[in-house]
Amino acid sequence: MFKRGWRAYLVVVIFVVLTILYMGYICQNNFCSFSSSRRNAEGQSDDRFSDISKLVPDTFSPQIVDREYQLDLDDEDVLVFLHIQKTGGTTFGRHLVKNLDVGKPCVCRKTMKKCECLTRKKTLWLFSRYSTGWACGLHADWTELKNCVDSAMDKQEELHRERRYHYITILRDPIGRYLSEFKHVQRGATWKTARLFCNGRQATLEEVPFCYEGETWENVDLRSFLNCKYNLANNRQTRMLANLSKINCYNKTGLSDEERDQKMLESAIENLQNFSFFGLTEFQKETQMLFEHTFNLKFIEDFEQHNATHRKRLPISEENMFKIKEFNDLDMKLYQFARELFQRRVEKMKEDLREEIQDSTNDQEIVAFSGDT
Ligand SMILES: *[C@@H]1O[C@H](CO)[C@@H](O)[C@H](O)[C@H]1NC(C)=O
Ligand SMILES: *[C@@H]1O[C@H](CO)[C@@H](O)[C@H](O)[C@H]1NC(C)=O
Ligand SMILES: *[C@@H]1O[C@H](CO)[C@@H](O)[C@H](O)[C@H]1NC(C)=O
Ligand SMILES: *[C@@H]1O[C@H](CO)[C@@H](O)[C@H](O)[C@H]1NC(C)=O
Repeated sequence: MFKRGWRAYLVVVIFVVLTILYMGYICQNNFCSFSSSRRNAEGQSDDRFSDISKLVPDTFSPQIVDREYQLDLDDEDVLVFLHIQKTGGTTFGRHLVKNLDVGKPCVCRKTMKKCECLTRKKTLWLFSRYSTGWACGLHADWTELKNCVDSAMDKQEELHRERRYHYITILRDPIGRYLSEFKHVQRGATWKTARLFCNGRQATLEEVPFCYEGETWENVDLRSFLNCKYNLANNRQTRMLANLSKINCYNKTGLSDEERDQKMLESAIENLQNFSFFGLTEFQKETQMLFEHTFNLKFIEDFEQHNATHRKRLPISEENMFKIKEFNDLDMKLYQFARELFQRRVEKMKEDLREEIQDSTNDQEIVAFSGDT
């Protein structure tokens, strides 16, 4: 009896040890997927990005897919545009102030960078760079906006009132976005006045050091751009959509990198689902239609699809492409999630529109029929 029990015990111990060794071997990268397949840097079927299946549900609940609002911009509804760098947000921001068919259009003067977007009651209906300015800081992120929009609007309206905020944003394919940011920085852009405000204070220089000495990072090459681990270009979309309070902001001492990454991605996905609307740079036509459908508003002129040019002009080595994907792993997952949800919403919208057309033809038939009698 004793001997047999002991043997069984030994078998269990050996099994556990082997399992731990095996897991340790295969779980070397962040999310414990089977080890990375480096073979193809441009890769479509890169295993490393397959974990997203855990984050993208098989079916989205109807209230996440089916977003429609009857806005009353004269009353409580306010659109808040979260503008992530190099996502085509400038173009979209211009559409909001110049191209939206609202009762009282924004007044844009040539000499001014901002437009005046006021309702009949002289209240604001749009919080964005081209209407309110960077009232919560340059390219304010979700964490900054949530803590600031209400008081910033009170200040501009000189009035405290009830508002119903509708957060909207545009996302872009992370590789295209990253390279576009690289080119922009190479031309001398910095965004160094961004506040990175979180938990009541700005990030310190120790937490987020600059990647360059001197005024700008002009003429930086891709290698150096990739080699700065503090580069805020990395996973920018995920960081800007997450509730950074959940990961102790920019202070990296408390959590492991894996925990931080996981929490940040989960939070970004949760917040994105809670946005009233998001569009995708690569799908201008659908973005326009979905916006119009969601808010029951129309644009005066149609959006244009500008074809990617930078990427074609910029030859990227396999090694660098691999790094770009590695450093934007969270954004790749976020974008994959966003694409799924966007596609589902577009499909639902098209169903709705088909039904509307059918209903209206049925109505006409009924009218025609009753006219006969
Ligand atoms: C962000 O996360 C913190 C910590 O979990 C939480 O207390 C706070 O309410 C969240 N902020 C918003 C606006 O949901
Ligand atoms: C970062 O967080 C740790 C604990 O999580 C704390 O001890 C430390 O003071 C923080 N650093 C800063 C600069 O706030
Ligand atoms: C989602 O948005 C609604 C309305 O804007 C808000 O009341 C709710 O707290 C949000 N939930 C999360 C998880 O942010
Ligand atoms: C983009 O490319 C498509 C197909 O190649 C073309 O039909 C379209 O006109 C292009 N759009 C612009 C704005 O150049």
